[in-house]
Amino acid sequence: MSKALDGVRILDFTHVQSGPTCTQLLAWFGADVIKVERAGAGDITREQLRDIPDVDSLYFTMLNHNKRSVTIDTKNPEGKQVLEALIQKCDVLVENFAPGALDRMGFTWERIQELNPRMIVASVKGFGPGPYEDCKVYENVAQCAGGAASTTGFDDGPPVVTGAQIGDSGTGLHLALGIVTALYQRTHSGRGQRVLAAMQDGVLNLCRVKLRDQQRLERTGVMKEYPQYPNGEFGEAVPRAGNASGGGQPGWILKCKGWETDPNAYIYFITQAPVWAKICNVIGKEEWATDPDYATPAARLPHLKDIFAEIERWTMTKSKFEAMQILNKYDIPCGPILSMKEIAEEPSLRKTGTIVEVDHPTRGKYLTVGNPIKLSDSPTEVTRSPLLGEHTDEVMAELGYSPEQVSALRTAGAI
Ligand code: COA
Repeated sequence: MSKALDGVRILDFTHVQSGPTCTQLLAWFGADVIKVERAGAGDITREQLRDIPDVDSLYFTMLNHNKRSVTIDTKNPEGKQVLEALIQKCDVLVENFAPGALDRMGFTWERIQELNPRMIVASVKGFGPGPYEDCKVYENVAQCAGGAASTTGFDDGPPVVTGAQIGDSGTGLHLALGIVTALYQRTHSGRGQRVLAAMQDGVLNLCRVKLRDQQRLERTGVMKEYPQYPNGEFGEAVPRAGNASGGGQPGWILKCKGWETDPNAYIYFITQAPVWAKICNVIGKEEWATDPDYATPAARLPHLKDIFAEIERWTMTKSKFEAMQILNKYDIPCGPILSMKEIAEEPSLRKTGTIVEVDHPTRGKYLTVGNPIKLSDSPTEVTRSPLLGEHTDEVMAELGYSPEQVSALRTAGAI
């Protein structure tokens, strides 16, 4: 079966996490992704957080599936020529170097345009144009600058970063969408263009509801679904809301049976208005369904803490899975807090290809997260990440270099 992006060639000049997640996704959709790395070193993540000596780390393998790896020293004049040949052959160049690095290599937008006017040049940067545009940025910097950290955590504690890599993988997703959009526009315009996804912008996009709340707070001085209401105080900026639901249906994380010893024996419980009477029945508080202090969503807002305490008295008598089973029978929205161990072992995720076991020549078998986006006509087969420079000879031959020329370039340190 053909793949959605069959025939699209990506010159993958990415490293660490944000850029590689983008190009991995494009590879899963069928693009030919050629990852350019420095000979002898490669993407720095190959050696970061290693769990097996001298073997590509899980950090690298889990971000670089379905790609080919070529080594080119792009600061070497002959290496530059090889990169130029690749630019002429590819549709998209993706990079996430520090600001200015590509220009310093000699590959300005103007130069790339000369080489290939159809080339789409896609970049992840920490910040867009402005006071921080020259800064190097990693995940947590983006979470802090994009509004996630100031709005995450509990009111009486410091800002907290989330385990979800919204700055890196989140921006990689944004960039991938920009790239396929630019490819589509190129079918009409015939021209390439630049695509920029700044990590601060990507995080802020995912924190959109908090900018909504900032404006609500400025207008009304209070947000009744936040845990600060009714007894706490609101300041000038959106406060940290603990585990409160971000939407109009109040929710909280509640203890389940076994919480004293299992750090994940919890459930997220949403007191969705349409099923309020069912919630009252399940927890044995039938009278709340008609009590004017509890019967309507507005009446309940000042009592949310008491309500969740009462519901928790019920959830603590059930395991998170038992509670889930009972609550789902009544269409009460809830979700178990799943540990990574539970997720890794979940058979349904294996079945859908969301968790995949991959074999690697030096590492052996390991688990990875497969393509979370499923296309019915373009199924994803996850194949292992490439060894450093594994495809250099193959790609050089495709570019028209003879084996003798390849060997001379290797001796000269260009590839
Ligand atoms: N051949 C020769 N030189 C190469 C090369 C190759 N194949 N690949 C990279 N280089 C060079 C670059 O040209 C750059 O040289 P310069 O500093 O002389 O211009 C150098 O390697 C280092 O690149 P840089 O991007 O500065 O790496 P870093 O390790 O110092 O910084 C980041 C890492 C992630 C902080 C930085 O790349 C960055 O801010 N990127 C944008 C934001 C981003 O994506 N952050 C999230 C990462 S998950």
